[in-house]
Amino acid sequence: MTSYVTRKTAGDTEWFRLSRFGMFIHWGLYAMPARHEWIKTREMIPEAKYDKYFKYFDPDLYDAREWARQAKAAGMKYAVLTTKHHEGFCMWDSKYTDYKCTNTPAGRDLVREYVDAFRAEGLRVGFYYSLIDWHHPEFPIDMLHPRREDADAYEQSKDRDVRKYAQYMRDQVTELLTEYGKIDILWFDFSYSDNNGTGERAWMKGKGKNDWESEELIALARKLQPGIIIDNRAEIEQDIWTPEQFQPTEWVRHHETGELVTWEACQTFSGSWGYYRDEQTWKSPEMLIRMLVNTVSLGGNLLMNVGPTSRGYFDNRAQNALKVYADWMKYNSRAIYGCTMAEPEFVAPADCRFTQSIDGKRLYLHLFAYPFAFIELRGLAGKVDYAQFLHDGSEVLFSEGKMEHFGEALPQSNDLLVLNIPHVKPDCLVPVIELFLK
Ligand code: GLC
Repeated sequence: MTSYVTRKTAGDTEWFRLSRFGMFIHWGLYAMPARHEWIKTREMIPEAKYDKYFKYFDPDLYDAREWARQAKAAGMKYAVLTTKHHEGFCMWDSKYTDYKCTNTPAGRDLVREYVDAFRAEGLRVGFYYSLIDWHHPEFPIDMLHPRREDADAYEQSKDRDVRKYAQYMRDQVTELLTEYGKIDILWFDFSYSDNNGTGERAWMKGKGKNDWESEELIALARKLQPGIIIDNRAEIEQDIWTPEQFQPTEWVRHHETGELVTWEACQTFSGSWGYYRDEQTWKSPEMLIRMLVNTVSLGGNLLMNVGPTSRGYFDNRAQNALKVYADWMKYNSRAIYGCTMAEPEFVAPADCRFTQSIDGKRLYLHLFAYPFAFIELRGLAGKVDYAQFLHDGSEVLFSEGKMEHFGEALPQSNDLLVLNIPHVKPDCLVPVIELFLK
């Protein structure tokens, strides 16, 4: 067994750590303007104008089974769908609002189809639920709100009662956690209690756990779905730490105790979370694979996001990106699932990463740059029983200790293990060498 122990939490994170790779799905009305999911507040779009999206939202090509198939093929083991994003629009048939998909031309419960389809493919099912709500009449206007610059914002906001909004969230979370069977993850987003208005806007307060009544909200979720995994963004520490659009360079630790924590980086293919038609910043195939490997090599999970179009399908760019994962994971998933950071004694050589199976028996060497002919592994002499490329199971020969090459002694060290690799890089984005330890 590897030696790492993570901080204990209430939720069942065991399956989560073994899974390592999930799909985030940001889908809502903002797929129509197709220029970022924060569009309503970025452009301070008035309600009447935003209503156009509500009026015409028609995901006629939505086939959740197709999404689930692509997620599974990409090697993802779970998914998290936005049931409601900051715009406040609900993707299920909530009885607590009219602002929901069943009242648009969509006419169906989109969450239900997602749950059924992903579960049928054997994936775990998660819900993202926005704490922020730019539609709800009791949500006080603040610095992130689309109405923040309205001359009469104060008048509009002064009678708003955030406690009623907190109750609305509990009602909706109750719906989500009782009417869709077992839900594995609840992803609240997010708190900003430090972001207060200044000057004329001094009355605009940021929001956090007191506004959301997070304690009650979380207790409710735990009562309804014991074992559910909850993120930290309701401003009360829970099960998972969620670095966003940022890749940690070491295993994330608890800020007070220094313990290792269960963490999940969330990332996008192109920069925004919602479908963004004109975005040109799509990540390269190499980067996609490296991000996954880097994450697991530091003991974390990767939640990679897809922003479906308003018609309900993954556009070609997203499908191609998923295909990159599918092609690689088909042969290399053994170096991801059930793997974690390698024991400290195993130090990866330049341009490589190690992952190690949690049972400690196998070490995986991921070759980010393909070196010429030899790879020197310090400290591994005498420890490896057999080595092979993972993608095709072909033997990789190795020698240990002192090495001779045309009569010249190469770096000499008794603890050196030298892998002999073919001159031509195998046809695989990031080749992996599997080392069976003695
Ligand atoms: C954020 C953003 C958001 C996105 C999320 C994903 O905090 O507000 O649009 O849903 O992070 O991590």
